[in-house]
Order: sequence, then structure tokens, then C-alpha cells
Amino acid sequence: LRARVVLNPGAVVAPVSRRTFGSFVEHMGRCVYTGIYEPGHPLADEDGFRTDVLALARELGVSMVRYPGGNFVSGYRWEDGVGPREQRPRRRDLAWRSIETNEVGIDEFAKWAEKADVEIMYAVNLGTRGVQEALDVHEYVNHPEGTAISEQRRANGAEKPYGIKLWCLGNELDGPWQTGHKTPEEYGLLAASTARALRSAEPDLELVACGSSSSSMPTFGTWESTVLEHAYDVVDYVSCHAYYEEHDGDLGSFLASAVDMDFFVNSIVATADAVGARLKSTKKINISFDEWNVWYLSRFQNAPLPEEWKVAPRVIEDRYNVADAVVVGNLLISLLRHSDRVTAACQAQLVNVIAPIMTEPGGPAWKQTIFHPFAKTAALAKGDVLRLHIDAPTYETAKYGAAPLVDAVATHDPATGDVTVFAVNRDVTNPVEFSVDLSAFEGELSVAESWILADDDVYAYNTKEAPERVELRSFDGVTIDGGTVTVTLPKVSWSAIRFT
Ligand code: AHR
Repeated sequence: LRARVVLNPGAVVAPVSRRTFGSFVEHMGRCVYTGIYEPGHPLADEDGFRTDVLALARELGVSMVRYPGGNFVSGYRWEDGVGPREQRPRRRDLAWRSIETNEVGIDEFAKWAEKADVEIMYAVNLGTRGVQEALDVHEYVNHPEGTAISEQRRANGAEKPYGIKLWCLGNELDGPWQTGHKTPEEYGLLAASTARALRSAEPDLELVACGSSSSSMPTFGTWESTVLEHAYDVVDYVSCHAYYEEHDGDLGSFLASAVDMDFFVNSIVATADAVGARLKSTKKINISFDEWNVWYLSRFQNAPLPEEWKVAPRVIEDRYNVADAVVVGNLLISLLRHSDRVTAACQAQLVNVIAPIMTEPGGPAWKQTIFHPFAKTAALAKGDVLRLHIDAPTYETAKYGAAPLVDAVATHDPATGDVTVFAVNRDVTNPVEFSVDLSAFEGELSVAESWILADDDVYAYNTKEAPERVELRSFDGVTIDGGTVTVTLPKVSWSAIRFT
């Protein structure tokens, strides 16, 4: 089996957006409590943040973190999480049927974000709340001083505003599971009026309207169209959310999950552009793919809800295997390929809850398999994304029909001359020989580093006892001959090769 691609430095899609490497911290399960925050832990800092998790978040290369939800935000009162801790109320979180202690709120999270060196993407509650509460939280976090709510922040210890630029106008309001679920009409009107009000306070905010919770939603496409008819002029982004899993042992379809992500992005770009055309607008709406990952959602949906209301229960702590990591690497390839329109994205979530980083309360933190392709892609994708045409054999999948066996993306950094190729082999049994023609680049390129994630056991995973069972290995056997590189991609593998 053979696949081939010719790289052309002039065929630029767009610069790599650092916001592609976003993540997500929701008040859900153990993402916040015993995830990023665990005051009693031996490695906790003076603010109660786990320094082992902070170090891993930095190593992961996360650029931006969406907060505080997720489904959680649709019932959240942000005021509960500010001011003296002992006065903060305990509340029911209906989304995850748990107890929220409010020990962590926006002031604590902003501190964590500064330590982790990440931008905050803040989601407002448009489920049970509306324009006024969105304005209030904006005043709290972004208004410099001299008003009732900004002075409250200053009294709580944050003299300077946080300057949050990127705001989500609610979460998944197309989903019947969402507290305060809405019709596209209702949501479109609310999103537009909230956006207008926020812009009156701060004109250059970047605002994200909720799009579809998955490409299989019955309102997929019509939701975006209706919402944008109302909000086109006042928002910058529409969101996409997508989770993938292997169903009933169909590994072939699962490995082709990026086909759905490509379809999702292309469909929503076309939908948004069609609305723009109807409105005779020259403005383009970009995509914030602000929830994506592998999630064994069907196991969660089939499990009974917990009877007891608990603080930080273990919820959807999925354990990821090699195939999951290959899919995650492939989803990043898809996001990068669409860098002209997908300029923000968040892997959901960061710690414990469907996460690349796991922790044990009082114990260690470790990397799941999916940590590796994310961290390497974030580290190596630099400069411009190149438009590729990959010549690859196809295979039949039950879910997506014929899918290419090899998928890839490449970046070229004009500042350093580096070229990096990211590739997956989706074949469940065979290796594929992959050749990359680099002859269009000036000068002779040589291999600077090459990495592979593959294993004889595609279901191998890491645990706290064996945290390094699945790691990246250096990818030997990359040969260059007359400007063409040839590699043999093992079955079910993800790889990255940087040339300099
Ligand atoms: O990330 C887990 C959940 O998935 C989020 O809370 C919700 O927005 C989505 O359905």
C-alpha cells in the first residue's frame, strides 16, 4: 500500500492559529476539584493548585482554556464563586447531578490561567440567565474600576481587570439535555441581544454563538442558519462540538472520525457563508470548535445517574488507548487543515474528565495516550498550514463509506524554514508506505526530529501504575532521496516529522 503527497510552500491555507490548541476546564466531575485544584495535596501551591497538573498543562502546550462549562454553565451563577470562600453557597449542579461548593470561581481560575500561561475563553450562562447577568460578569472581569461590580473584583483582590477577549454566548442550547434548552429562534434572538449588550460595554470582544452539539443533531445546519440570521453582524464565531468513539468493535469507522470533522466544518462554513450572502455581508464568521475529543459517550448515556448528590464525583473518566490517540492526532490534522476558518478550538477536557491528564486525589498525575499527539502537534505546528492533496488508497467504512487510508497535514514556518508533516495510517492491519515530495522547498531539507505513536496492541493504555506504557517513540527509518521522503507508517499510527 502506498500514499503520496507533494508539498508546495506557496499553497498556504492560513497561519497556524495558536488558539487551535485550546482546552476546556468545566466544573464537572474531578476536572476542577482534585484536578487543577487540590489544596491538601503535597504538590499544591500556595493557592491550592496542583503544580504537577500545571506542569503537565504547560507541557501539553495548551494556549487557551474554556471555562466554566459546558452543560454546567447553563445553571451557573457566577457570583456564587467570588468573595470570601466561607460565604460561598453550596449549590446543586443539575447538569451533572452533583454538588458545587464554589470554592473555585473566576478569580481563582484567572490565577490558575496566569500560572498555566493560557488565555481564558469565558462562557456565560444563557440557559437559566440572560443579558443582565452576562453584562454583570463582564463588568466583574473586564471593567477596570470605579463601578459597583468592578470594585467588587478589586475588593476581592484582583486590582487589574482580566481582559478576557473571547466569550461563548451560552453552551449547547440546541440540546434538549441543556438546562434552558431553546429553539433556534429563541436562542438566536438571545445571543444577538447579549452580543449587542456586551459590545456596548466593550466593542472589540470576540463572541461565539452556539452552533450544533454534534453533526447528528436533528437541527444540524438549520440551527446555525437561523441563529446567524439573527446574530450575524454581532458575533465572530459559531461553535462546533463533536465527540467520537469506537462503536461495537468497528475500529475502521472510528479511525475515520476526522471525515466527520471535515464534513462538520465544511457544512458549517457553507451554512454561515450562505447566511452572509443572503445578508449581503462581506464579513466572514469563523468556527470555534470548542469541544472535541474521543468520548465513550454511549457508556455514559447507558449508565444510571448517580443517586447521591456528591462533590466532585468521578464522572466520565475515560481511559484512552492507542487507537484513541491516533484519532485525536487525526482530529488535530483536520482542525489544522481548516485553519482559514477554524481559528479557535478546545479539546474537552483538560484533567480527569475525558482528559489527556489524569490525577489521583493525594496521588500522582499522569499522561493518557491522547496527551502525546496533542503536545507534539502544539509544539511542532508552526508558521503556515499548507494545502495538501494526498494521493492515498481508500478503505470501506460502515459509517463514512470509502475513506482515505492516510490523512496528513503539513506546516511550513517561513521564519525558520522548518517543514513539519503530521500523518496517520488508518489501516487496522497493514503498514502504508508514505512518500512526501519536498523538492519545491529551497535548499536541502533534512530530518530534525521524527515521532511515532503506534503499538502492536492498539488497545494499550496508560495507568497510574504504568504511566509510560504508551509513549511517543522516535520514528526511525525516515529516508530522503532527491527531495522525496519515504516512511513506512505502521498500522493504526500517528506520526510527526520535522524537516529543517
Ligand atoms: O465535555 C462534556 C460535556 O459535553 C459538556 O459539558 C457539554 O457541553 C457537552 O455535551
